[in-house]
Amino acid sequence: MAAYEKKTTAGQHNGLPAPVQAPQPAATYPRTRLRRTRSSEWLRDICAENRLSTDDLIYPLFITEGTNVNQPVASMPGISRQSIDLTLEDIKASLDLGIKAFALFPVVAPEKKSPNGEESYNPDNLICQALQTIKRAVPDAGLIADVALDPYTTHGHDGLLENGEILNEETVEILCRQALIQAQAGADVIAPSDMMDGRIAQIRDTLETRGCKNTLILSYAAKYASAFYGPFRDAVGSGDILQGDKKTYQMNPANSDEALREVALDIAEGADMIMVKPGMPYLDIIRRVKDRFALPTFAYQVSGEYAMLHAAAQNGWLNYESCMLESLLAFKRAGCDAILTYAAKDAARTLS
Ligand code: PBG
Repeated sequence: MAAYEKKTTAGQHNGLPAPVQAPQPAATYPRTRLRRTRSSEWLRDICAENRLSTDDLIYPLFITEGTNVNQPVASMPGISRQSIDLTLEDIKASLDLGIKAFALFPVVAPEKKSPNGEESYNPDNLICQALQTIKRAVPDAGLIADVALDPYTTHGHDGLLENGEILNEETVEILCRQALIQAQAGADVIAPSDMMDGRIAQIRDTLETRGCKNTLILSYAAKYASAFYGPFRDAVGSGDILQGDKKTYQMNPANSDEALREVALDIAEGADMIMVKPGMPYLDIIRRVKDRFALPTFAYQVSGEYAMLHAAAQNGWLNYESCMLESLLAFKRAGCDAILTYAAKDAARTLS
């Protein structure tokens, strides 16, 4: 056997036997002209490998206290912090556009924040009120509730902070309480975005034993310590107060194998669906996760990605609509089943 024929584990594909491939005849020009299938719109359409639909969109919403409140977020054109009543209107309008799922984030009043984030497990807190109101009014809307302490802590971290360290087990205990009250308030999906070790198992057990066995878990399994979250932190008011960074719990952007280990653990612990975050800079991670685990895989096109599209468009440098749609299609091509995006309504309007 010649060196170039060397049989290694190359026959292995993600630890599984390689799929059986039909022999590929060599395609040669000019009999093969790939431009033929691109030559008209109907051909491009029938040959399209991937498609974006409103079924793929999850719309994130920022909820604030009060009634009839709408505060635009400066760094996220078209996005506002809205009180529950206006959020409900927004959700109804989005349902009419074909969007089916919504991710809710609270803007917690500064006086309700504390070092240990106790407000996160107050069953009467803003997010629980929102979940109850929305679930009652539009029971068919899919409601996804974030689990993490950063909206509630005075230091802006996703967990408890002691002597400069984020405590793991102590944080997970609080996350379980937070998950439970949100599930009881009407969340269909609990989405831990905190990156503590072992939290999926504990949250799953809590939901299982406390009457919420049908509540799903969407794990932010591969969440990176990214600089693209800036506008989100402005929106929820955790940016200015954040002490230090989140690098001891969110992933190092240098790593890819580690993302597979995170996902494997979370699946073993009971996650139903997996999130990769941010989105476009991490399309390679989405592809690896989907190929390896073949479970519902979502991406979060985060605030900074959305802000970049708008900033370039406002300067007349890019066309917002085409770049936005192209970026969302790229997620589908990378293997995503759905995409959390602030552009959900813009995309749905174009698609419908
Ligand atoms: C924190 C959380 C963050 C985002 C969603 N949940 C920011 C962070 O980790 O600091 C960012 C989303 C976005 O940028 O759109 N639990």
